Amino acid sequence: MAYPIPLVAAGAGEPWPPELVRAPTARSRRLADMCGIVGYVGRAADGKALDVVLEGLARLEYRGYDSAGVALLDGDHVETRKKSGKLANLRADIEAHPLPASATGIGHTRWATHGGPTDENAHPHRGGEDGRLALIHNGIIENFHALKGELLASGVRFTSETDTEVVAHLLAAAYDEVGDLTEAMRGVVSGLAGAFTLLAIHADQPGVVVGARRNSPLVVGLGDGATYLGSDVAAFIGHTRRALELGQDQIVTITPEGATITDFDGTPAQGRAYEVTWDAAAAEKGGYATFMEKEIHDQPHAVRDTLLGRTDSDGRLVLDELRISEEQLRSIERIVVVACGTAAYAGMTAKYAIEHWTRIPVEVALAHEFRYSDPVVGARTLVVSISQSGETMDTLMAVKHARELGAMTISVCNTHGSTIPRESDAVLYTHAGPEIAVASTKAFLAQITACYVLGLYLAQLRGGSYADDAQSVMKELGEVPDKIEALLGRMDRVHEIARFMADTRSVLFLGRHVGYPVAMEGALKLKELAYIHAEGFAAGELKHGPIALIEPGQPVFVVVPSPTSEHGLHGKVVSNIQEIRARGARTLVIAEDGDDDVVPFADEVIRIPATAPLLAPLLAVVPLQVFALWLSTAKGLDVDQPRNLAKSVTVE
Ligand code: M6R
Repeated sequence: MAYPIPLVAAGAGEPWPPELVRAPTARSRRLADMCGIVGYVGRAADGKALDVVLEGLARLEYRGYDSAGVALLDGDHVETRKKSGKLANLRADIEAHPLPASATGIGHTRWATHGGPTDENAHPHRGGEDGRLALIHNGIIENFHALKGELLASGVRFTSETDTEVVAHLLAAAYDEVGDLTEAMRGVVSGLAGAFTLLAIHADQPGVVVGARRNSPLVVGLGDGATYLGSDVAAFIGHTRRALELGQDQIVTITPEGATITDFDGTPAQGRAYEVTWDAAAAEKGGYATFMEKEIHDQPHAVRDTLLGRTDSDGRLVLDELRISEEQLRSIERIVVVACGTAAYAGMTAKYAIEHWTRIPVEVALAHEFRYSDPVVGARTLVVSISQSGETMDTLMAVKHARELGAMTISVCNTHGSTIPRESDAVLYTHAGPEIAVASTKAFLAQITACYVLGLYLAQLRGGSYADDAQSVMKELGEVPDKIEALLGRMDRVHEIARFMADTRSVLFLGRHVGYPVAMEGALKLKELAYIHAEGFAAGELKHGPIALIEPGQPVFVVVPSPTSEHGLHGKVVSNIQEIRARGARTLVIAEDGDDDVVPFADEVIRIPATAPLLAPLLAVVPLQVFALWLSTAKGLDVDQPRNLAKSVTVE
């Protein structure tokens, strides 16, 4: 059977020939929108809806930037405007053709794979013959195909290829029956499968926005005479810091006076109220040209704040946030870290430290691989998830699966009120502040820091030879922020190297031990920001194959361990540098201050301050982040919003 909705051929922009188009499988349908959502209701005639919604979208644009749109209530009808491309396109269109002042509005910024990034597929979608309802959606309606078939059969006409439009029509029809948007939403969500956040407005109900969420984020902001909804608090942080966290499978109705929450079955519910600890300035560029540059410079704070308050007056580690008993933590036989991308590299780094300090075996699994690998975990396994956003669907599914299997779960997370910590037994927050650039930087350092604190805490709890070292390691960790600060002050040469290398087509990265995940993180930064072929290798693996890639002029970054590293690791990496240099590689060597052994074999030496070998990744990764930032800039690319990506990957 042919799939009735044209798919777009990747890269070509042309529809596939019909004979190649097949019905989507359940898994292919899982690819859908990952988006930013904003809702606003102010007092009648406050006229602020458009400004508030556009400001919120600007702060959420990192979540998706294929298209954007808004819907406003104007008297007795709904006005919508939507444009493909970045938010700037929508703004320009609105400037050319202004929208009416309104006190009720919703807005959406999209990352599309389901239905191309066109004006038609952009949200909001209208429902009902007269288009009196407007709806925006983040997530995926897995049964949309069947629902759409029924709607088509009953004569409904569709104007887009999205799953969302199905819900818009269903909701409009339900509203016509019950005459209340909250009731209508309740009736519709019970028939939807998949993960979704939905926000809707209806021309007959001014001063009301109704939202629903299942496995997809939505938070409420409480202002004075105004109420907000957002995919995260960044959407309304310019207006209020008072937030309400919603639970799973809940419906929220906002009016200027506040929010009413129920479960999908209508049972009244309470949101968890909290105060956002950062302010609007934290989500601004603060004088830097890009968020990424600013966030690289935030790193000393990210590490410092993540370490804050972790010790008592005797210098012993205390982790008050952990809601797992000490007895249970003592019983752990194995740790499995689940995460994706940069967060997984933070986990790989932490593995070396946690195993060293606790002697508990640690395995690091990519969350999407873990979930479907029939993993061996049980009551004595601690599953540690790492996620900046707390919304990564692959990681969330891994955590849920681990809990089903009886494991203890701890979330290392940067986002209060997000889903993964809520679905975990315990949480250890990183305090990096909002990370807006799609490429993760300060979250990486904060994640390593938090995992190290966890490792030291477990070592202290379980006794053993490293229990007494926890305090001295914490002291050394406490010195790292100043060292990062100093390092950031000497990045001029890295900036220059990046500019010289703007035309480079391939860069390799080598490291050993904790330097190995740093090498992979360096390669990931370059791939996602500069669209350059980049690979990170364990330096010891070189002669087992990758050395064949070395040809004259091939740039290779080498992360050199401290000369104080155990087992002669430093000397082995110096030998690796010689091996590739002998074959013509251009060597860019990251080495500790005072390490002169590398000088004869390095085309460039990038110096980092000396620190304990296990802590070196917190420094060694910084020049690699800076290199990727400036190479991308030299190529004229969008540093904060690289192509094809989105900040929070909220679909599997
Ligand atoms: O929000 P999370 O930490 O769960 O995100 C995980 C990855 O998607 C993320 O680290 C991604 O790899 C970054 N864009 C890399 O810079």
